[in-house]
Order: sequence, then structure tokens, then C-alpha cells
Amino acid sequence: MKAINGKQIASDIVDELTAKTASIQGPKPCIAFIRVGEDPASVSYVRGKNRTAEKIGITPLLFAFEDSISQETLDAKIDELNADASVNGILIQSPLPSHLDEQSAFNRIDPNKDVDGFHVINAGRVVQEDSAGFVSCTPAGIIEICQREGISLEGKHVVVIGRSLIVGKTFALLAMQNGPQANATVTVCHSRTRNLKEITRQADVLVAAIGRPEMVTGDMIKDGAVVIDVGINRVEDASKKKGYKLVGDVNFAEAEPIASRITPVPGGVGPMTVAMLMKNTVKAYELQNS
Ligand code: GUN
Repeated sequence: MKAINGKQIASDIVDELTAKTASIQGPKPCIAFIRVGEDPASVSYVRGKNRTAEKIGITPLLFAFEDSISQETLDAKIDELNADASVNGILIQSPLPSHLDEQSAFNRIDPNKDVDGFHVINAGRVVQEDSAGFVSCTPAGIIEICQREGISLEGKHVVVIGRSLIVGKTFALLAMQNGPQANATVTVCHSRTRNLKEITRQADVLVAAIGRPEMVTGDMIKDGAVVIDVGINRVEDASKKKGYKLVGDVNFAEAEPIASRITPVPGGVGPMTVAMLMKNTVKAYELQNS
């Protein structure tokens, strides 16, 4: 099938992790979520992660703070969770309100509990191609999709649109690594890139991670390219019960006939991010208990 069923792949990973945690004697792996404010998307993401953790047999803890909390209060909670040996993984849902320093909060997490892979040490390990660390979940999920769907990156021209640490930059680093599921030639495009279409049309694998609804149109895609859509954008739609629908960064209707494989939104990369977070949490548990 042309469309890649990320939901199914994520569900397979959840099943594998459920079997693994079932075999653990004694306390199960535990992940702590920190959420600040009531941004509806963040509330929904954390709820989804909480639910998946429970399903796997990972104990979730949720710490929800008011929008107005100080950096000191946030730091104190991170310190407390770092010191708590029963907590294996810590996730701070991004974005934080603008008065808080997000990267400083990520860097305060014990790197061995940094299941999001946002700590400077874990980001550095990706650069050094050191697999001992934690890799940011969305880029790791894209690599996992390629592996499980038999999509080789070897020698391919991978074009990434977006340079965030969470997705674009980290995926570019993974794809250019010297090793299996990598060895790609990588171009990173961003908001200041000139002649974007000329570059994206050269992509064997096109990864869209810009957060702009349906920005990638059919004329930007080479015939037979693999298209990975990382965007999750809420756009108003009065005909929907919730008043909005989710669309990706790719115009799916235009891209689908041109691409050889494509990830839909929803049901593509999104569920993989949660599955990889759970995989990292089990890895953290194993590292801390070995
Ligand atoms: N916000 C959007 N994606 C992510 C993610 O992967 N981790 C965290 N912590 N926040 C996010």
C-alpha cells in the first residue's frame, strides 16, 4: 500500500514493549510528565502519552502547573524527579510559556532520564553517533518507519524542510550518519531557503517538518519520492465535531498520486513519536537497573 500505516507500526511497537514490561519483576518502568498551562494540543498529547504508557505497563505520573509558574518552581520539580529513583523518564511538554526558558529546563533533566532526547548531552551524542544516549522521538520514529517498511536511505538524497532540534535538525543528523538506516545525502531547507521547489524536486525522500498546513504541494515533489509528513496542524472546520481538523505540512491529495510512499496525517508519524517515547522509557529503565 502506498500510504504508510504509522498507527499500525506504532501499535506493533506498543505490543513488543507490553510483552517486555510484562516480564519485568518488581516495580515497572515509570515516566513523569510535566505540563505547564492548558494549551489544548499539549493537554491532548500528554493525555495520549499517559494512556499509551498505562497500556504498556509503564507507570505514568502527571504534574500539571499553572501557566504562571516560575522557573524556580519548574526547576525544583525537575530536581525532585531527578533525585527520585522510582522515576525512570522525565518529559516536559513543549512548548512552555514564553517567560520560561525551555532549553534550560531540558538541560536540567538528568541526561539518563531524558527520554525526549532534548538534553544537550543527548543531542551531542547524536552528533557523535553514540547510540548510548536517547534520540528525540519523532526523528527516531521516522528512521523506525523506514526500517520497518524496507525504505533504505543509503545513498539517497534526503531533503528535510525545517531545522528544529525536535525534528528537522536531528533527523538530518541521523540520516547522514555512517551506518545502517542512514548513509543519506542530506539537504536541510528552512524559512530562508531560496528556490525551495527546485531543491525539494530533487528529493528521493522528502521530510516536511515546518508546521505550516499543506505547504508542500504536488509540484514540489519528484515522481516516485517517499514523502514523510511530520506536520500536525489544527485548521478550522465547522463541519467537524471539535470545530477543527488535523492536516499535515503536505497537501496529501496532491502528493499521494506522485509519491511512491507517503505518511498520512493523522495516523502516520504522530503515533510513532509516542511509541518511540515509550521505547526510550523502557531503555531508561533498563539502563538504570542494569
Ligand atoms: N511538543 C511537540 N512534540 C513534542 C515532543 O516530542 N516532546 C515534547 N516534550 N514536547 C513536544
